Amino acid sequence: MGCCQYFEPSKGGAVSFTVQMPRITFGRGTLSETGERARELGMSRAALFTDPFLAGSEHVAKVRNSLKAAGVDAAEYSEVLIEPGDDAVMQATQFLSEGNFDGVVSVGGGSVMDTAKAAMVYHRYPASVTAYFAPPIGEGQPVPGPVMPHLACPTTAGTGSETTGLSVIRIESLNVKYVIASRHILPDEAIVDPACAESLPPMVVASSGFDLMSHAIECYTARAYTRWPKVDKPGARPMIQGANPWSDLHAREALRVVSEYLERGVSDSKDTEARDRLMWGATLSGMAFGNCGTHLPHAFSYAVSKLVKSWRAKDYPPGEGPFIPHGIAVILNSPSVFRFTAQAAPERHLEAADCLGADVRDAAPEDAGEVVAGRIIGLMKNIGIPNGLGGVGLSAEDAGALAETACAQRRAIGNAPRDLNKNDIAGIFSQAVTYW
Ligand SMILES: [Fe+2]
Repeated sequence: MGCCQYFEPSKGGAVSFTVQMPRITFGRGTLSETGERARELGMSRAALFTDPFLAGSEHVAKVRNSLKAAGVDAAEYSEVLIEPGDDAVMQATQFLSEGNFDGVVSVGGGSVMDTAKAAMVYHRYPASVTAYFAPPIGEGQPVPGPVMPHLACPTTAGTGSETTGLSVIRIESLNVKYVIASRHILPDEAIVDPACAESLPPMVVASSGFDLMSHAIECYTARAYTRWPKVDKPGARPMIQGANPWSDLHAREALRVVSEYLERGVSDSKDTEARDRLMWGATLSGMAFGNCGTHLPHAFSYAVSKLVKSWRAKDYPPGEGPFIPHGIAVILNSPSVFRFTAQAAPERHLEAADCLGADVRDAAPEDAGEVVAGRIIGLMKNIGIPNGLGGVGLSAEDAGALAETACAQRRAIGNAPRDLNKNDIAGIFSQAVTYW
């Protein structure tokens, strides 16, 4: 099954897909263009979103100075903590409501950009906290319309949030992360300055690199868009629309970037070529999953984040209690997931493995899951990632509870190439406990 056959029409299936993208500027030094770009977007008074650790950095200083030089007044909101919850979104919404702003500039990782996106929605269209989250967690209301202009400046090479209409927020009452998906929260513009990645510690580069890698493999192996139901109105076409030729293009190149540069970028902070390329890879994989949607590794990662009991990653800001970075929560599931999903789309898994640098010359379709899993596990070992869920303190006995939590991510689970039930999900978790 090659590329074209993968998108064969199916009865009642979609016959078209939509690509949505912000304007993107990529390159070293481009943060100094922020002010002029913000002014072009019509901003005269911007809310500058960042986090407490970046607030004193040269990157935010550069943005601050650039806004000032362009005559854009700005007020800063630097309260965004890692893995934000809905209470943090409501605080940020309050900040927007009191500031008389006509635009948002976000400088940070996924937490900062996603908080900004969600806050802009609740500021413009006040509603109950769960109104815009999909069922069964939320009420599934569509975001009613446009929000104020958003210029997004990522500082890590991972989430790709600058290129997506997705915002991942933890629902505090359930302690589980969930997604708002809407074209209205796609940033208008992104400025990607790889100089931001220079000072990142190794585990941050590793986590965000594995995140971008899984975005790309998940997009490449996702259910084909032609296997999602056809929609009656263009506005009804979801952002999680399945694999398509656009997402393929970017996923393949993102995997080549990971293959060549991830280990280098993690091990040597002075390897600017590797870190620059990883930043580009993150942007590419964002372009893919923002127009395709991820599937099981991401759907399952939220259960891992919720249920990890005591493990705490190094290289992240100090804090109390367990903390597993998003990219690590994703990658601990990935090999086990792809061993399961390969049966439904073996050629796609082999092609992804090939882009990721695996030797696929003698691989048969039935080897596909093992080939892609083997390459991921090799990278995990070389980079020092925990050995499966057991490496972060979970065991096969947790598989049932993990599956129970994961089941809430219905749309992402539906984007997998192979149908599965709760028992299958528990089985995938129990096969993810130890890899070597
Ligand atoms: Fe991710």
